[in-house]
Amino acid sequence: MASRLSSIGAAVIGSGFIGTVHIEALRRIGVQVHGLLGSSAERGAERAERIGVPRAYGSLAELLEDERVEVVHVTSPNNLHFPHVREILAAGRHVVCEKPLAMTASESGELVRLARDSGKVAAVNFNIRFYPLNQHLRQAVGDGTLGDVRLISGHYFQDWLLYDSDWNWRLEPEHGGGLRAIGDIGSHWLDLTSFVSGLRVTEVMADLTTFIKVRQQPAGPVETFSLERAKETVARDITTEDAAAVLLRYDNGARGFFGVSQISAGHKNSLQYEINGSAASAGWDSEQPDMLWLGHRGQPNEQLARDAALMTEPGRLAAALPAGHVEGFADTFAALFRAVYADVARGAMSDHPLYATFPDGHEEMLVGDAIAQSARDGRWTTVTRAEV
Ligand SMILES: NC(=O)c1ccc[n+]([C@@H]2O[C@H](COP(=O)([O-])OP(=O)(O)OC[C@H]3O[C@@H](n4cnc5c(N)ncnc54)[C@H](O)[C@@H]3O)[C@@H](O)[C@H]2O)c1
Repeated sequence: MASRLSSIGAAVIGSGFIGTVHIEALRRIGVQVHGLLGSSAERGAERAERIGVPRAYGSLAELLEDERVEVVHVTSPNNLHFPHVREILAAGRHVVCEKPLAMTASESGELVRLARDSGKVAAVNFNIRFYPLNQHLRQAVGDGTLGDVRLISGHYFQDWLLYDSDWNWRLEPEHGGGLRAIGDIGSHWLDLTSFVSGLRVTEVMADLTTFIKVRQQPAGPVETFSLERAKETVARDITTEDAAAVLLRYDNGARGFFGVSQISAGHKNSLQYEINGSAASAGWDSEQPDMLWLGHRGQPNEQLARDAALMTEPGRLAAALPAGHVEGFADTFAALFRAVYADVARGAMSDHPLYATFPDGHEEMLVGDAIAQSARDGRWTTVTRAEV
């Protein structure tokens, strides 16, 4: 496998916060990163030089003319995922697209169809699945360790948009989409908890709130999570949600509730969930990712530290370092890409891949639509799934 992976060529669109993480993870698993595409030829060239990527393409057409590139990673802002992925699949390349898969469910449905017809490997980068203990727990839940799942709860809280001077393209619906906190981070929570529990959301009841109705947009461009404050700004009306509270019903009758916020001071990037079953509970926190809490009624509770000797097979496969040597965010990308590139090396997707597929990405767009509809109507809303 190692020698085959090193003969696979990739290119990355976008070289901001997450594009750089993609490039580093690809290098780590031995894939050749031939080039990147930035928002302009100059910015791309400057970035390629800085992180040692051999080539900056002038356009997506130029990237797709590079015959060495078999897989394209899409890490551009959300509004570009649909046009970029469509062009990549039409050019006969495999694709790894960042979340959310698209801006609307009609776009993501179209991408599901195009990916299926192409026969290419098409993955969505819901990387949080690939913390080893999440892979482990999914298998354990499937094996019945928790009994019947009854309750799923938790949150995804951040604080990087707490002040009215905080700015990012995610605040602009034309670049980020009509849902912000739900689309940007709620989609991770929903994908992860459905992946681990094996359950699908059937109905939602949502309350979305925009606390900061006017923000100060810097006159120039801003990098994601940048600490710099602009001197010249323009006041902008904000229509997307800073925070959300959502009740959930699942297809087995389980119930759920979660909160999402980008304005919760002190929470840098805190995804937590807890699953309560008829036999036991499990809980995980992204800020302590190498620990899994297991709750019991008739015996003391447990803390499972990530350890290949103590995890199920999927957990072992996702782990790279010995127990006690902390694995984190960037490691999940390498684990996810290992699974994706094993399929690329075989030339087709596995029947039930552990990475998120385009139908999984589309699923989160459909749940998002139901959340938006529920918030508008102020009542329970069914997730509508049509054949695509
Ligand atoms: N999986 C995760 O944990 C995770 C984390 C962060 C971001 N993301 C996703 O990754 C994407 C990028 O987010 P980010 O935080 O890296 O944003 P960012 O602003 O840091 O980077 C975006 C990049 O896209 C480039 N770009 C803009 N227009 C372009 C164009 N026309 N052609 C090519 N490149 C263009 C920009 O120059 C920049 O390099 C988003 O869809 C976001 O939801 C996922």
